[in-house]
Amino acid sequence: MVRFAEEKDIPAVMELNKTCLPENYPEIFFKELLLTYPKFFIVAEKNSETVLSEDPEALNLIKLMREEDLKTITVEELMDLKNIEYDESKMLLEKVLNYSDTLTPPFKFFKKYYENGLSKYELITDPKIIGYIMCRLESGISSFGFKWVKKGHVVSIAVDHPYRKQGVGQAILLKALKEMEKANTSEQVLEVRTSNYEAIRIYEKLGFKTVKTIKGYYHDGADAYLMVRATGRKNEN
Ligand SMILES: CC(C)(COP(=O)(O)OP(=O)(O)OC[C@H]1O[C@@H](n2cnc3c(N)ncnc32)[C@H](O)[C@@H]1OP(=O)(O)O)[C@@H](O)C(=O)NCCC(=O)NCCS
Repeated sequence: MVRFAEEKDIPAVMELNKTCLPENYPEIFFKELLLTYPKFFIVAEKNSETVLSEDPEALNLIKLMREEDLKTITVEELMDLKNIEYDESKMLLEKVLNYSDTLTPPFKFFKKYYENGLSKYELITDPKIIGYIMCRLESGISSFGFKWVKKGHVVSIAVDHPYRKQGVGQAILLKALKEMEKANTSEQVLEVRTSNYEAIRIYEKLGFKTVKTIKGYYHDGADAYLMVRATGRKNEN
């Protein structure tokens, strides 16, 4: 699920920022951005209740497991818990497993494995922040002509390693760009290490163009590309 960040997400976002990027910031920096630009601070969360609520059987089973404080369940345990026959218990677990398997990887919530001759079904629903993006509004000279414009600046974006290449980065970036567009920005800008091909590719895919190289932009001396995307809005500041 992609949603607006809340204050409770900040520790997880800071942790993600530390593991994914060399550019780290103090807590106050994250808090200020959230307070000032709440619509431009977006997180991706794994295994949302929203996804589960589409299947009442899955949701009920998960509620039951949570009530019983169970991380895994077997057909036999479910029989006892629900006071049902073996076949019915097996069918229910397999149905929920099938449903889970139809979801894209970050949103899968159930898996099956074998242990000591038993089929164990594991609940993997703990909500977890797997990506974030934070941006701010700025104004300055346009990259496309001599005029003063309102800009949206992508300050930081990262997706947790195991969840990369599944569209999460694109989803949070697109939501942030849309929100900044609604705020009447006519240009969206960002800096990216010239060696960060993964990030550059996704920015290019979403319409960003490199307008210049900023020598020694990063604290370790690395160069950055300044990339800009025109939103199509004419609003000038
Ligand atoms: C840059 C970053 C945020 C991209 O996040 P991501 O979630 O991997 O991005 P996406 O999955 O949306 O897109 C990345 C690639 O995966 C592909 N992809 C998307 N969904 C896919 C899927 N279901 N299966 C396979 N590949 C998929 C995309 O097409 C894209 O590949 P392409 O550019 O070759 O077309 C991530 O690599 C990251 O956190 N890097 C470290 C931090 C960083 O560098 N931040 C940027 C600083 S400027």
